Amino acid sequence: MDIQFVAQIDASADVVAFPVRKGEASALGALLGAAAKQARFEGAAGAIAETAAIDGEQAKRLLLVGIGEGSVHDLERAGASLVARLQTSGVTKVHVDFASAGQTDEDDVLAFAMGAKLRNWRIDTYRTRLADNAKSTLQTVVIASPAGDLSARWGSYSAVADGVALTQTLVAEPPNIVYPETFVDRCQHLADLGVELEVLDERQMKALGMGALLGVAQGSTRPPRLLAMRWNGGTPGDAPVVFIGKGVTFDTGGISIKPAAGMDMMKWDMGGAGAVAGAIKAIAGRKAKANVVGVVGLVENMPDGNAMRPGDIVTTMSGQTVEVLNTDAEGRLVLCDAITWAQKAYDPKIIVDLATLTGAMVISLGHEYAGIFANDDKLAADLIAAGEGSNNKLWRFPLSPAYDKLIDSPIADIKNVGPREGGSITAAQFLKRFVGEGVAWAHLDIAGMAWADKDGAVYGKGATGYGVRLLDRYIADNHEG
Ligand code: BES
Ligand code: ZN
Ligand code: ZN
Repeated sequence: MDIQFVAQIDASADVVAFPVRKGEASALGALLGAAAKQARFEGAAGAIAETAAIDGEQAKRLLLVGIGEGSVHDLERAGASLVARLQTSGVTKVHVDFASAGQTDEDDVLAFAMGAKLRNWRIDTYRTRLADNAKSTLQTVVIASPAGDLSARWGSYSAVADGVALTQTLVAEPPNIVYPETFVDRCQHLADLGVELEVLDERQMKALGMGALLGVAQGSTRPPRLLAMRWNGGTPGDAPVVFIGKGVTFDTGGISIKPAAGMDMMKWDMGGAGAVAGAIKAIAGRKAKANVVGVVGLVENMPDGNAMRPGDIVTTMSGQTVEVLNTDAEGRLVLCDAITWAQKAYDPKIIVDLATLTGAMVISLGHEYAGIFANDDKLAADLIAAGEGSNNKLWRFPLSPAYDKLIDSPIADIKNVGPREGGSITAAQFLKRFVGEGVAWAHLDIAGMAWADKDGAVYGKGATGYGVRLLDRYIADNHEG
């Protein structure tokens, strides 16, 4: 979908949308005012009312789109709502008349456009019998505003939306299509944006001693990968910020197998890795002035004659041994080796990991906030602020030695599960044991956020792309000079 910015509405436009602030519907002309009244439209963010008009020979479709109080989030929601309404409606082009909406500034117009572009993502790859009237038709959104041509500024927004779309696609694709090797294939195009890619295969990971990650992978016929994506947009030689993602392309639980009902959902157990890849795409796409690396550990967790058993002890790349009491607590096993490797490879001062790590997090926070655990108050505060700004919200949880004790093993250095209580916290404590002295680290448990059963403000139900805008905003606000 193409988004264009112009100064004046085109008089011949046949589909026109008018943004309306909450409470200002009464100021509309007779026709639009009547349409608002009939639909009980009051301008709430994302609300829509429609009517038709004849202009000479031409029939026009007119839409009122509520922009609420006019906050950035409201404008995003409004743009998204308009696209959701028109996407498969037969309309190919819509004109948005901001010119008549009063004091809307550039950022507001761009936010509306961002919502429109984000909401346009969908995956129709596997629908070979889609009825004509269910196919996407909307191709162009023309936005007329007093700011005129915003295409120079739009480039950065558009790059971020492209990053979100990559994540959504990776998360939505089925597990027989996106698995460790093909996840890597899907990221190769980042090289065109100037991202340096490095891929480790099984043999190399063995040589490095990544016994935990390889332990998870050994039950699958699909070989694991570790993918590093490096963007050098900052001062040469400055240590990069490192993002690390859990990339379990399918989580059956392994020998500690999950119940059958709903197991298909575990195709999105690579949502952390997907978010990291999407964030690197966003950051490189808008040529961010920062050094950032994304590292993703990619495995499939399957039960098999060669799979890990509950009770097995594996040796991690850090040298610490882990007693694997539950093979379904595999994410932390993948992440711990990725964290160790990333510290060796890049010597970062800041690490942020993202993972669909625990069901307990979904019980705690539902689908509104992801959990954040951090050993550094400033990093936590910066990420929480970036989350508020990008509507990828975070809520902080505690870490403490008392929780850490719960994962001491009687036979190895650590066990991979604690008691049921505080399950998200003990998972975070596990990861903390692999973070070096002096490294500011945050762990984001996004188990409740990667996928949605109902439509959100800027996405339809399904893959949300959670994390991309959060990480991008965090870099923009804290690491670009
Ligand atoms: N991938 C799951 C966590 C998950 C569950 C994400 C539901 C999204 C929705 C993770 O690998 C897992 O299975 N964790 C176990 C840990 C337990 C065995 C300590 C869990 O949460 O049940
Ligand atoms: Zn699991
Ligand atoms: Zn998992």
